[in-house]
Amino acid sequence: MNLRPVIFALAVLAAPAALLGQAPGHFPPDSLINVKVIPKSTPVMQVVGIMRNFAGGLGVRCQFCHVGQEGMPLGQFDFAKDEKRTKLTARQMMRMVDEINRRLDTLPEHAQMTSHVEVTCNTCHRGVSRPMSLEQLIQETAQTAGVDSATRAYRALRERYYGRAAYDFGEPTLNISAFRLARAGKYTEAFAILRLNEEQFPTSSNLATFRGNIDLMKGDTAAAIAAFREAVHRDSTNGEAQGRLRQLIRP
Ligand code: HEC
Ligand code: HEC
Repeated sequence: MNLRPVIFALAVLAAPAALLGQAPGHFPPDSLINVKVIPKSTPVMQVVGIMRNFAGGLGVRCQFCHVGQEGMPLGQFDFAKDEKRTKLTARQMMRMVDEINRRLDTLPEHAQMTSHVEVTCNTCHRGVSRPMSLEQLIQETAQTAGVDSATRAYRALRERYYGRAAYDFGEPTLNISAFRLARAGKYTEAFAILRLNEEQFPTSSNLATFRGNIDLMKGDTAAAIAAFREAVHRDSTNGEAQGRLRQLIRP
């Protein structure tokens, strides 16, 4: 008698049980199951510490990368499963960070330095999952979803992140977004973004200079002259605006 089909059938029956046996029931788990970058012998509590740093660095919770839901006990998460794209990306990021730090170790001055700066997730992420600069984010939003969406996004981000390292709400950010929009021929959007910036920095001479430069890109000389005059009025030492005015008003 051929037993192989029977054994095969038993194996199939046994499979769910084996999976259940592995299924998490308590947290922290007893051992590591599916780590490919972290050495398997690492104490579980140390891994949990690394994971807390990931979550903090990216401003997310465990379920951003792991199978589980908000409010669910951690014991019911399936941390070993590779199901979410973000977990796979995170693994690549771990390899990238190792590589960066290995490269930093080769700096000529490394051996003599009394302290070393180690690159971590937070070096780039600073509390957000996709660490895009605010100028790029606003420029892209204005271009793809419209300037009203970009304005709303800026206000919401400022509300949430002001004073944190995630985004730079200083004056240059929106000036740069506006300039890049103008370079892409999106003048209406560019001026709207400058007006948004002017709410925060109503007396900035530099901002008026940007406005003048964008007027020039658009070919509106009269508006450019007015903007550069405003820039000089706001700061009489603004050399760029003075230079532009000399060029524009020269007979
Ligand atoms: C940004 C993505 C990300 C976040 C957020 C994250 N993890 Fe992880 N986690 C990973 C990756 C990637 C691995 C696998 C590491 C490897 O392959 O070496 C992992 C592995 C684990 C493991 C080991 C699983 C196994 O195979 O045995 C545990 C336990 C774990 N994470 C717990 C947590 C907890 C708890 C949190 C929330 C505090 C968390 N993780 C947040 C990406 C993340
Ligand atoms: C050198 C800078 C840098 C470091 C360090 C870094 N990341 Fe990233 N990470 C990025 C950039 C840039 C992106 C966005 C890529 C894109 O979407 O174009 C990103 C994207 C991600 C994403 C996808 C986010 C999403 O919403 O799609 C995850 C997850 C992630 N990183 C995890 C990590 C983890 C975990 C670490 C630390 C082990 C880490 N990163 C370290 C630069 C970095």
